[in-house]
Amino acid sequence: MCGIIGYCGKKHLTDVLLTGLKRLEYRGYDSAGICLGNSNSLTIYKKEGKIRDLTAIVPREATGSWGMGHTRWATHGGVTDVNAHPHTDCSGKIAICHNGIIENYSRLKEKLGSEGHSFHTETDSEVIAHLIESMYSGDLEKAVKDSVPLLQGTFGLLVMHADHPCEIIGARNGSPLVLGIGENEMFLASDVSAMMSHTKQVVYCEDGEVVKLSALDYQVSDLRNRPIDKEVSRISWELEELEKGKFSHFMIKEIFEQVQSIPRAMNGRVDENQATARLGGLNMTERELLGIKRVVIIAAGTSFYAGQTAAWLLESLARIPAVTELASELRYRNPLVEEGTLYFAVSQSGETLDTLMAVRELQSKGARVLGICNVVGSTIARESDGGVYIHSGPEIAVASTKAFTSQLTALYLFILKMARMRHMAWLQGQTFIEGLLSVPRCLESILARAGELQALAKKYHQAESFLFLGRGINYPVALEGALKLKEIAYIHAEGCSAAEIKHGPIALINQNTPSMFLVPEDHLRSKLISNMKEIKARGGPVIALCMEGDRETAEIADDVFYVPKISEEFSPFVMVVPLQLFAYYCALELERNVDQPRNLAKSVTVE
Ligand code: F6R
Repeated sequence: MCGIIGYCGKKHLTDVLLTGLKRLEYRGYDSAGICLGNSNSLTIYKKEGKIRDLTAIVPREATGSWGMGHTRWATHGGVTDVNAHPHTDCSGKIAICHNGIIENYSRLKEKLGSEGHSFHTETDSEVIAHLIESMYSGDLEKAVKDSVPLLQGTFGLLVMHADHPCEIIGARNGSPLVLGIGENEMFLASDVSAMMSHTKQVVYCEDGEVVKLSALDYQVSDLRNRPIDKEVSRISWELEELEKGKFSHFMIKEIFEQVQSIPRAMNGRVDENQATARLGGLNMTERELLGIKRVVIIAAGTSFYAGQTAAWLLESLARIPAVTELASELRYRNPLVEEGTLYFAVSQSGETLDTLMAVRELQSKGARVLGICNVVGSTIARESDGGVYIHSGPEIAVASTKAFTSQLTALYLFILKMARMRHMAWLQGQTFIEGLLSVPRCLESILARAGELQALAKKYHQAESFLFLGRGINYPVALEGALKLKEIAYIHAEGCSAAEIKHGPIALINQNTPSMFLVPEDHLRSKLISNMKEIKARGGPVIALCMEGDRETAEIADDVFYVPKISEEFSPFVMVVPLQLFAYYCALELERNVDQPRNLAKSVTVE
């Protein structure tokens, strides 16, 4: 949610800011702005729309010696030029870019208003500029440090002052902030993608830290002015990973990448001799792992469905009670933390605020929380007590695809380890490993037939509404299929357990409401076949994803897409990829903005 970038250095300022914002655009894309600092003045350009709309209004010759930019995902105040960041104080000398939400902004606005400050926007963020103005007496860093304790909510904040050339102050609470160290240049941004073409040396800021940035130097300190010695890390991603390459959208590129990203999540973690998994990052001894009595997985959105799928398998294979909880609900529920319960926080970005806050709530109660994250150095990854990086590479499309299958892979390895420590024999462990290793090959064969899913999308994209129906381990996959279609094609879709349709959703069935059935060869297949017949009897079109050679299903369904035969536990992989492709092609048919769907943004750092 919202991307920010600050730059001090000698490169062409507008180029650095606009290309940086372009890389951050997936975080928010309803309006954008930049602030250019030149000796003792600040010039601001801001515009509703995409970064290309902003670029169009910035004169080519416009530049400066230090500056910052923002790409917005609106929370408070409509999407307008005026509400776009940067925001300024009354004098126009102080400018801020803010990612997050200031919850007490109305009270602050009232107070500052009564002191004579006048406001020009409907945003919560504008109060920050005026608050800093009210605290300022010649030292910008001090004014920021005096202001920050009065702000309730979350922020990744950049501040400039016309009278402080080549100085940017950054502050963080709850929203990410990363410092980039280049040669005679420095960056501060909400994520590394904004600076990767310039430097790979980064410092991750923590909550409560304030950064003072110039082109040659940076200082990090806390609110009581104590300097903090920060570790410098190296970004492992390559620049090409941030490009679409030969693909027309990031989403389709990322769907196809799953053939490589799943093996990456397994790399070095499979112990074929012992038929188990090696997961050193968990930071737990075998004895501690043996003591686990219950697993709770917390997450949001697609990551939640990966968690639900894994919880099903954990219980069935490792015989450990496992549940998945929405982080947003858990954090406000006063959860009961018990000895012997292990928590996993699953998050692609590692920055989802609800998940992060749930992690903190659980840790404050003494829970051990492990992270399953993609973004190295992200807040959840750093704050959790251990975990597994999924190494999918950057996921740029707003709709999550490759992260889902890599999250599953990492969780499956954990399940293997737990199962092998309990009831699973060596031979069964070997079979499990063989199954997991065969997944990429199966996906290759599905991807080679992507055209069949495109044809289905051509046939069905005008549907009013869709049902996605699965059972057992594929029930969460049905929910994920519905989510994908909703978020990128804007077609209403509901994911249900096929068993539940008779309790209500079947009332929705008509000729314009197709049902997508997930029919693997498991013990619930015959039940699904009955459910398909129930839908057909009511005139509803049926599309089925079933295993190669499943004639019976093909005879009932209007259309089928065959997936390679694979055992039940791995069926979520071969079911989800056709659903991702189907949603993608429906979105294309409907001419949607696939990578940047309306109202959404990647990395949800607000509540
Ligand atoms: C859907 C999607 C979202 C995310 C959710 C959690 O395609 O991308 O539902 O899965 O916002 O994000 P992370 O995994 O970054 O915590």
